[in-house]
Amino acid sequence: MKVVLLGAGGQLGRSVQELQPEGVELISFTSAELDITNELQITEKLDAARPNVIINAAAYTQVDKAEEEPELAFRVNALGPQLIAQWVANNDSRLIHISTDFVFDGEKTTPYVETDKPNPVNVYGKSKLEGENNVLALIPDKAAVVRTSWLYSNHGANFMNTMLRLFEERDSLSIVDDQVGSPTTTSALADVLWKLVGRADINGLYHWSCEGEVSWFGFAEAIKDEAGVIRGLEANVELLAITSDQYSALAVRPKYSVLSSSKLDALIAEPAIHWRELLIVELNNS
Ligand SMILES: NC(=O)c1ccc[n+]([C@@H]2O[C@H](COP(=O)([O-])OP(=O)(O)OC[C@H]3O[C@@H](n4cnc5c(N)ncnc54)[C@H](OP(=O)(O)O)[C@@H]3O)[C@@H](O)[C@H]2O)c1
Repeated sequence: MKVVLLGAGGQLGRSVQELQPEGVELISFTSAELDITNELQITEKLDAARPNVIINAAAYTQVDKAEEEPELAFRVNALGPQLIAQWVANNDSRLIHISTDFVFDGEKTTPYVETDKPNPVNVYGKSKLEGENNVLALIPDKAAVVRTSWLYSNHGANFMNTMLRLFEERDSLSIVDDQVGSPTTTSALADVLWKLVGRADINGLYHWSCEGEVSWFGFAEAIKDEAGVIRGLEANVELLAITSDQYSALAVRPKYSVLSSSKLDALIAEPAIHWRELLIVELNNS
């Protein structure tokens, strides 16, 4: 089994590489090695590698900056997946593509299922929705699109690492308390993606996140508490709960973007793992 990983330098890409199973040949490309918006590079590199499965972890992920450079966000998140899917359509291969909870508007109060209608409220969400639609239109029987949420790991730029740094630098921190989601470690998601690599029968649209839900404020409190226990973090920082309106961000974000993973969990026999349990694992691993 030969697998190509795109976006290998990102936080999910790194976890996919760390969890490479035995017996799989993995060829990884960073953005510098293969730009997914460059059709010539896709053809040349994929023709040479001839992968049975492609994992696309490459994306434009800067949610606020996307409001200022929508063309680039759409090139990477919509055109890129379309070009990859075109290659898969013409070759004996499959695609596992990653999408986001931000395709939803956040008006629900119970976990989003795959049949819920997307209605993105920012450029990033719109560009990612166009990307997943492009993939599923071109290769519906050769692609699994996995929407996930609030990714973080002990490497890369993410909420946990930002909090750990700011806890030591600041006396007080204001954190949004009216956006609720499910923090998900990239290693937990990578584990699921590797299960999908071996399952050519699983195609279509799926949701997968860690179990449970929390606001950014609640997540920050948990990081502070668990880092205190696990790493002996002695932070006297005061955490203040604020509303989204009190926090000036360029992009509007959904108020509630919890995903129900039950459809995919049932297919791959994945036990639900609570986000706090995996936060502890992540803090212990760094
Ligand atoms: N982060 C989250 O909270 C979150 C939540 C839900 C879903 N997701 C989705 O999960 C996936 C993985 O996200 P992540 O957190 O691992 O993102 P990340 O750390 O930002 O990694 C994305 C990677 O994509 C690469 N990339 C950007 N433009 C590219 C291009 N034109 N060609 C090839 N590679 C390119 C980046 O390389 P450079 O750094 O060199 O540009 C980077 O290594 C994405 O599909 C994302 O939309 C993320």
